[in-house]
Amino acid sequence: MKPESGRTESIWMGTFDVPKFSMLTGNTECDVCIIGAGITGLTAAYLLLRSGKKVVIVDDGNIAGGESSRTTAHITNVIDDRYYILERLHGEEAARLAAESQTAGIDLIEKIINENNIECDFTRLNGYLIFKPDENAGILETEYNACMKAGITVNIAAEPPYDKLGDYPCLEFPNQAEFHMLKYLSGIAKAVIDMGGRIYTQTHINKITDGKRAIAETKDKITITASDIVIATNSPVSDYLAIHTKQSAYRTYVIGVRIPKDSIPHALYWDNEDPYHYVRIYKQQKDDILIVGGEDHKTGQDDDTEHRFNNLIKWTTERFPMAEHVEYKWSGQVLEPFDGLSFIGKDPENPEHVYIATGDSGMGITHASYAAILLDDLINGRKNKWAELYDPKRITLKAAPEFIKEGFNTAVQYIDLITPPEYGEEKEIPIGTGAIMSFGKDKAAVYRDNKGKIHKFSALCPHLKCVVEWNKTESTWDCPCHGSRFEATGKVINGPALADLKPID
Ligand SMILES: Cc1cc2nc3c(=O)[nH]c(=O)nc-3n(C[C@H](O)[C@H](O)[C@H](O)COP(=O)(O)OP(=O)(O)OC[C@H]3O[C@@H](n4cnc5c(N)ncnc54)[C@H](O)[C@@H]3O)c2cc1C
Ligand code: FES
Repeated sequence: MKPESGRTESIWMGTFDVPKFSMLTGNTECDVCIIGAGITGLTAAYLLLRSGKKVVIVDDGNIAGGESSRTTAHITNVIDDRYYILERLHGEEAARLAAESQTAGIDLIEKIINENNIECDFTRLNGYLIFKPDENAGILETEYNACMKAGITVNIAAEPPYDKLGDYPCLEFPNQAEFHMLKYLSGIAKAVIDMGGRIYTQTHINKITDGKRAIAETKDKITITASDIVIATNSPVSDYLAIHTKQSAYRTYVIGVRIPKDSIPHALYWDNEDPYHYVRIYKQQKDDILIVGGEDHKTGQDDDTEHRFNNLIKWTTERFPMAEHVEYKWSGQVLEPFDGLSFIGKDPENPEHVYIATGDSGMGITHASYAAILLDDLINGRKNKWAELYDPKRITLKAAPEFIKEGFNTAVQYIDLITPPEYGEEKEIPIGTGAIMSFGKDKAAVYRDNKGKIHKFSALCPHLKCVVEWNKTESTWDCPCHGSRFEATGKVINGPALADLKPID
């Protein structure tokens, strides 16, 4: 499968092609219109069709072309913001409900796989959470107790099964899972079509109007009129401020390294370093691929993203001496909610018939799955005990310091409006790269393509006018404020921005 939200290729893209669908060419109507055909949109469609709704899904790329194709596919109820933090911020009952929903997410995935005989290498296995005792005194016990209270099955293991990751006690979580994301999503897409759902790709929505009958509209003014609209675009494109001030976009990096077959105990591994690492193994016929992720940083806030891969390679070779050559290198984006919980439910800015599911954190697979259960209930008027927990309108006072810190970080990004440019003339920009240049009193985002041709845009993000940054790894323009991203040639990749960068003659 060709990469869509950047130029790097994940192991899933390199090993599987998703089915193709055609674009929407005329106005249509349905019960539920879902915008975004990643894991969130496809899983919601699956359950809504099961409930008897007529569903249309649209995506501006192919199915699964967004962050879903860039995942590492650990399927886990081990929240990366930690249960003891959730308990502190939201209370014991909320932590219990969060644990319950995470576990239900894993179970739903397994159920969908079994119901539809989806061959996607789904495997149940243990996960190990490793805290360096000297740097994290007491945290292991604190998290263990919080997990127990929340109803998560957990043991204290004497050490991780792979001893080079630590020779001290760690937390062991049985019954976690992994799969091949694109094989799974292709299976759901087939089930959606078999149940009468309609999927349209290459169809960019650039206007959403809430109302008794909500309307999603494309650039060419083609409309989808629906009783309800679900925004499953990862970062909601229906919302201007309400949600984007409560979550932050982070880039995260992954390498896939060839290792001899069965040379590492098959499990999921996570550490608590800052930034943390996440490790799993993809089993192949002759050998295995060790998948190591980490090195997260705020989107658009690192000038030289390539060193992130070097750090990962160094970290990996120090701990996995059997590592052979690096087969894959890719990066992607996750959205970190300010209070550790995702946002699922009515869009605060379009509260009649528009729903959102966002704030995936590094847990987007389970998040997408319990989001589908919750959205199916909300749209069908059924009560759901997780509704309040994930309500997008919520304000978590105990997380106010985090909220203020993130707000300050966003405000500081506007300093780029007056930062001097790196190059004085366009011809100084290396071939195949982009740079921010002065353009009168304004800033221009200038891309010099592989043939030397110049593509020039206003550097102001169409969302709230931050100056975009060139991402060397993915050859994209990334916005440091709320994570909107654009192709080198200006086309919007993901929200909150809905429009492309504005070309300059
Ligand atoms: C490197 C990396 C590793 C990860 N590892 C894990 C992991 O191990 N476990 C885990 O649980 N989670 C993980 N995640 C998170 C998880 O993969 C994602 O949260 C999840 O796949 C997001 O799915 P989604 O459907 O919400 O979004 P996406 O897959 O991004 O889908 C959104 C879709 O919306 C479409 N779209 C956007 N705007 C528009 C528009 N205006 N009109 C039409 N279509 C539009 C896009 O084309 C896209 O296809 C990881 C993420 C990354 C990047
Ligand atoms: S994403 Fe908000 S200003 Fe760019």
